[in-house]
Amino acid sequence: MYKTTMKIDGMMCGMCEAHINDAIRKVVPDAQKLKSSHSKGESSFVSETKPDEDMLRKEIEKTGYSVLSVHSDTEDKDSGNGQRIKPDYKNWMPKGMVLGMACGAAVFLLLSIVTLLTPISEPVKKIMIPILFVITMIFIFVTIWMFLMYRAFSYDGNRKMSKQIIEGVASCINIPDGGRGLDVGCGSGALTIACAKKNPNSSWTGIDRWGKEYASFNKKLCESNAKAEGVSSVSFMQGNALKLPFENETFDAVTSNYVYHNIPSNNRQAILLETLRTLKKGGTFAIHDIMSKAKYGEMQSFVEKLKSMGYSEVKLVDTTNGMFMSKWESAWMGLSGSAILIGRK
Ligand SMILES: C[S@@+](CC[C@H](N)C(=O)[O-])C[C@H]1O[C@@H](n2cnc3c(N)ncnc32)[C@H](O)[C@@H]1O
Repeated sequence: MYKTTMKIDGMMCGMCEAHINDAIRKVVPDAQKLKSSHSKGESSFVSETKPDEDMLRKEIEKTGYSVLSVHSDTEDKDSGNGQRIKPDYKNWMPKGMVLGMACGAAVFLLLSIVTLLTPISEPVKKIMIPILFVITMIFIFVTIWMFLMYRAFSYDGNRKMSKQIIEGVASCINIPDGGRGLDVGCGSGALTIACAKKNPNSSWTGIDRWGKEYASFNKKLCESNAKAEGVSSVSFMQGNALKLPFENETFDAVTSNYVYHNIPSNNRQAILLETLRTLKKGGTFAIHDIMSKAKYGEMQSFVEKLKSMGYSEVKLVDTTNGMFMSKWESAWMGLSGSAILIGRK
């Protein structure tokens, strides 16, 4: 759906508004939610397709009004019952964790106050109060840190870091027309859907374990996000990145974002190889994660290993030097070592 808003000069009353609405209907017979306001000098409507701006201008100017501007933009899909549905990709910092920490801070703050005001013996007070104070401070600090992370990742905030990363990873994907792609650890479906939108002639599978740690992510959410984005070339299934339920060389492209560092393992390079197992010869990959030495071991030698196995164009690109985030952001958000591994099998 497209929402079009026009600034129009010369409307004086309700009659003028009706003239403008008639002119718009001539050009866009299927216009919905059509309204004109002489006090705002504005008309707006929603339509299935993007309207022809020149025709709109001409038709309205024929009636003697001046069109100052026309702006058409995509609108969130309609669920069919008049309610707008918006994709909801949730947040990589679960809201429940932020609220849990905030509750902990409140409880310890209360305990500190009660201890301070209760007539208990002075020596006990002297031990209890500093301990409670330190615990309260830790809870407050962690709550603030988590809240700032939540805000930076949010799709609704100013920074929109998750959106930048998802679109950045999707832009590294190369897939032939008619090809099949796989997104491992798809979460709320953001990367699967972004890849499918960028490559409309391909189909994508998102797979995730959907465990307790990201309780708000699930298959139903992925499907409703795909519907909200108007993307039908995606499907989602439950499965484990450690043992993917696919034959060798099934996909033309594989991708993943911020998944493998969550999986307890002392060999994350083996998890990468498990993902690459499902990639066809000639297929491309783009895998983004915190690939620090502590989490993944020596990644440069892994790059060399892939090359010696016949992979080509293999590169490990640091994403913390402005590509997806600044060094400072990666440091305070605990994302140092973020890098994208790209190449061709
Ligand atoms: C930070 S979220 C990232 C989600 C998604 N890739 C994105 O970019 O929005 C991490 C995801 O990894 C998934 N995950 C963790 N361990 C997994 C495993 N062993 N197999 C599959 N998915 C896993 C979690 O369920 C969660 O959805």
